[in-house]
Amino acid sequence: MSLTRDQQSWEHFGREDPLWAVATEEGRRHGGWDEEAFFAGGRREVDAVFGFLEQAGIAVRPGDALDFGCGAGRLSRALAGRFGRVVGADLSQPMLDVAARLNADRPALTFTRVTSPAGLDAHRGGHDFVLSLIVLQHVTDRAVVRGYLRALASALRPGGVAVVQLPSAVAARIHWHPARVLGRHAPRLLLRGPERYRPYAMSLTALPEAEARAALEHDGARVEHVVDDNRAGSALIASRAYVVVRAP
Ligand SMILES: C[S@@+](CC[C@H](N)C(=O)[O-])C[C@H]1O[C@@H](n2cnc3c(N)ncnc32)[C@H](O)[C@@H]1O
Repeated sequence: MSLTRDQQSWEHFGREDPLWAVATEEGRRHGGWDEEAFFAGGRREVDAVFGFLEQAGIAVRPGDALDFGCGAGRLSRALAGRFGRVVGADLSQPMLDVAARLNADRPALTFTRVTSPAGLDAHRGGHDFVLSLIVLQHVTDRAVVRGYLRALASALRPGGVAVVQLPSAVAARIHWHPARVLGRHAPRLLLRGPERYRPYAMSLTALPEAEARAALEHDGARVEHVVDDNRAGSALIASRAYVVVRAP
């Protein structure tokens, strides 16, 4: 089990085109995002999450929040308007550097590097709210994904709430697309070759709903709602948002 290739890929994306790598909209490649539009997208996402929680009657304390897989801080910045303190955690130092630069005007926000599920031990029981959107789908190894799900549940304080999204199934024609197969199986040697020939990949991983639930229901946390969503960006990818509450 290793995160080396994921880490190399996301360091590359963070150096080359961070905002596009976070929000892969048509026409926004190569610096095509303006910051205002980028962060407005993050506010819409966070407002939608809290709209759902409000409708479902789930109250969230406005204390400490964790944005896991924060990228350039698109969602962290929106969370900073709702919580006293927000930590954005990510695997990619170049992404974190961009996040810190773009959010230097938000003192409630800090960014930190976490390179494994065990890296979240420092957050155990520390957060009233945990958010992770469009992150775990990019973690190649499913055992590692399960480890993160358990660690995110454990990061909640008693009475804390998490919203965690990941795909539950990927259609065969996407899973077996030649570019994806190459991304998964390219020889390690290529990773040491010239930068522009390296097989960087945004991997696409799914975990069946029952497995995701079992991993999230950890340390006194319960999955209260499972919502179909379209965050994985294709009708060929079934995506789920899990709403998790830790017993008070
Ligand atoms: C598509 S971006 C989404 C960023 C943010 N969640 C958002 O919606 O704006 C995916 C992010 O997940 C991060 N990531 C990928 N694998 C990770 C891991 N194992 N641990 C923490 N972050 C990871 C990447 O570095 C990248 O910043």
